[in-house]
Amino acid sequence: MARLSQLFVSTLYQAGFPPKQAEALNRDLAAASQSIARDDKAGIAWSKAHAYPGYTSYASLNDLPRRASAFATLEALLLPHVKKFARAIDLDPAAGTPVLDSLWINILKPGGRHTAHIHPQSCISGTYYVRVPGGAGAFRLEDPRLAMMMAAGMRKENARIHNKPFVDIHPRAGSLLLWESYLRHEVLPNAPGRAGHDRISISFNYALR
Ligand code: NI
Repeated sequence: MARLSQLFVSTLYQAGFPPKQAEALNRDLAAASQSIARDDKAGIAWSKAHAYPGYTSYASLNDLPRRASAFATLEALLLPHVKKFARAIDLDPAAGTPVLDSLWINILKPGGRHTAHIHPQSCISGTYYVRVPGGAGAFRLEDPRLAMMMAAGMRKENARIHNKPFVDIHPRAGSLLLWESYLRHEVLPNAPGRAGHDRISISFNYALR
């Protein structure tokens, strides 16, 4: 009898905070994010210089959990999920425990997208979704082996998820996604004319220390 094994797996972790908790947290995170987005001149300038369609604190602020309690609350809520993910992918605790390395705000304007990228220098990356407009573009992950595939066969449209070269996720407010930082990912543009308000998310990196 033949036996199939799934080798070299990339694991995506998806969770949702309880609706009541998410609602209060998201209200605080949205207010704090919008207020910082108005005041952070360096971040506004960086976003403009890099043609980011909205605002990101990625390059300008590295102390959000100390600036506003909503980010400290989020940080505390993230850790048990990150530890669970680390166990799920069999990270060796002897190599270090996951420690928050950076955490930043993304506010994407209607119509905005974020092109494919990886998060170098860290082990586990993720995003928590604060506000997601109807018609928001998907979060797309891609097979990290694509560049090596040469004449690999096309997958069927309805291929099972572990065989797809691209996987689209449609997070909602309150969704949490975690993945290994080497996975390339992007935010696809919103459906034209459909997204009525900004998409607010908080992204973060954990390193092993
Ligand atoms: Ni990213």
